[in-house]
Amino acid sequence: MDARVKAVPAFDLGAWSAEHLDGVERALERWVSADAPAGVDHGAPAELVEAMRYAVLDGGKRLRPLLVLAAWEAVSSELPAGDRARHVLSPHPNPLPEGEGVNESDHERHLNEAALRAACAVELIHAYSLVHDDMPCMDNDVLRRGKPTVHVKFGEASALLAGDALQALAFELLTPEDDGMSAERQASLCRLLARAAGSAGMAGGQAIDLASVGGALTESQLRDMHRLKTGALLQASVMMGVACGNASAVAQAALHRYGAAIGLAFQVVDDMLDVTADSAMLGKTAGKDANQDKPTYVSVLGLERSAAQAQELLGQALAALAQSGLRNTRALQGLADMMVNRSN
Ligand code: IPE
Ligand code: IPE
Ligand code: MG
Ligand code: MG
Ligand code: MG
Repeated sequence: MDARVKAVPAFDLGAWSAEHLDGVERALERWVSADAPAGVDHGAPAELVEAMRYAVLDGGKRLRPLLVLAAWEAVSSELPAGDRARHVLSPHPNPLPEGEGVNESDHERHLNEAALRAACAVELIHAYSLVHDDMPCMDNDVLRRGKPTVHVKFGEASALLAGDALQALAFELLTPEDDGMSAERQASLCRLLARAAGSAGMAGGQAIDLASVGGALTESQLRDMHRLKTGALLQASVMMGVACGNASAVAQAALHRYGAAIGLAFQVVDDMLDVTADSAMLGKTAGKDANQDKPTYVSVLGLERSAAQAQELLGQALAALAQSGLRNTRALQGLADMMVNRSN
């Protein structure tokens, strides 16, 4: 036996995430700004942009961008080496640092830029959903990502408008004017994101959530609500990553099942953490679901059965990856595990 055979290094999700998020953070910093986009003669009101930046920058686990990039990486690893997307991500208008793009084709640059734009767009929709979720007309929360919520800091009207503007910006990011993304890819990404954010996705789930305060839901009604309010956007994150590459029908279907399972599992765990964690750990007010009499996995099934459900969903997600036929799913596996076995 050849003693020089190297062991396969264990996958380090922390290092992978840090590397991939670096580009996302820089892109968000640059894109959420008062500068007018090219071709527009005036910028945005400074106070509105300040509220948008407060909502998006410097906080959050960035799970949705990570899912976009992990799914994109899984499908792009299947491409022949010459077509493979590079993993250097940085924002428009200079998609790659000068001098680093010399050996890659325009095609590769465009794949990179699509994934980066998709990752940021989904985080903008998520950030907007949090701003509105915290407002007095919804969950009336004062703490988010370890800071006062946007309406506490800037007032309700500004919070409403910051959310609106973040949503619009997400779609602007997906429709660049230069030729960095094909019209077809722009349309698929917009469609995936719009469906996940709208009345049959996050907004619809939030409407059910508000309508159920003080009421009782069956387990299947609760599952449907969670799938919409939280699961849809997480699943869309995965499918947007897929849409930035080329995946077989089998791989697409498998990643769709993966996204459904982790999307639901994520909200089950969110419900559990509301009971088991404290506000300092969560960066948001713990115990508020019970205070507000919201039906949750914990109130309907209890903690033990909720935990079992989350583990069962994790098993389904990992099984879907195993059935995908994709070779490089380590980041998707790691993210699924982290989403279920997390402490904040
Ligand atoms: C919180 O989402 C809201 C839910 C959908 C449950 P996250 O737990 O992903 O929040 P951040 O982005 O890390 O702040
Ligand atoms: C919110 O669910 C889901 C969203 C669409 C923002 P929660 O209301 O449980 O989220 P947290 O606990 O406030 O983060
Ligand atoms: Mg809520
Ligand atoms: Mg809430
Ligand atoms: Mg919650």
